[in-house]
Amino acid sequence: MSLVLDPAAQDLLFREARTANTFTDEPVTDEQVQAIYDLVKYGPTAFNQSPLRITLVRSAEARERLVKHMAEGNAAKTATAPLVAILSADNEFHEELPQLFPHFPQAKDAFFSERTVRENAAALNAALQAGYFIIGVRAAGLAAGPMTGFDFEGVRKEFLDDDHTPLMIVNIGRPGEDAWYPRSPRLELDQVVTTV
Ligand SMILES: Cc1cc2nc3c(=O)[nH]c(=O)nc-3n(C[C@H](O)[C@H](O)[C@H](O)COP(=O)(O)O)c2cc1C
Repeated sequence: MSLVLDPAAQDLLFREARTANTFTDEPVTDEQVQAIYDLVKYGPTAFNQSPLRITLVRSAEARERLVKHMAEGNAAKTATAPLVAILSADNEFHEELPQLFPHFPQAKDAFFSERTVRENAAALNAALQAGYFIIGVRAAGLAAGPMTGFDFEGVRKEFLDDDHTPLMIVNIGRPGEDAWYPRSPRLELDQVVTTV
């Protein structure tokens, strides 16, 4: 009984949550996306920099443009998921720092005046936020299918700009038929923890 989170919530978020490969056609609404974001925005990032940006692919025309950049094995999932989100890192996140870190607004210039520093920070912190986002999708009772099998430069040019780096594309919806592969094993604690 070391965990204080309700066991049903533990199942929903982790033990029974799976990476979906097929989806029903039940829509994912803007209200659900709002509720997911309003939860996961509280996940921590360095300097509260919050560099994750989310592009929701809703129109049929945009979906078609995205599918052509997906790896062969991912194209059908992205073509049929009720909602697809392109997650990217904003390398110019420092512009928002005075708002996001008001007790030390100088952080923008003191730490993040160099683009390479910002790119490294944005990559780490937006990836953290992508993890929070996946758990948030599960908290809404939905399944997420995150993917990095796509043409990053193609997606950046098609949907983003030079200041945004794609991180992953997430299919979102209710799981359909044969939605997952068999559960793969995870490493045990003694395989990953070193105590010094
Ligand atoms: C960042 C990331 C990228 C992934 N890329 C792909 C992908 O391109 N294609 C795919 O079929 N699955 C992809 N996956 C799915 C993983 O293989 C899957 O989440 C993992 O095996 C765990 O599966 P489970 O949640 O069903 O246990 C990706 C997952 C993550 C988190």
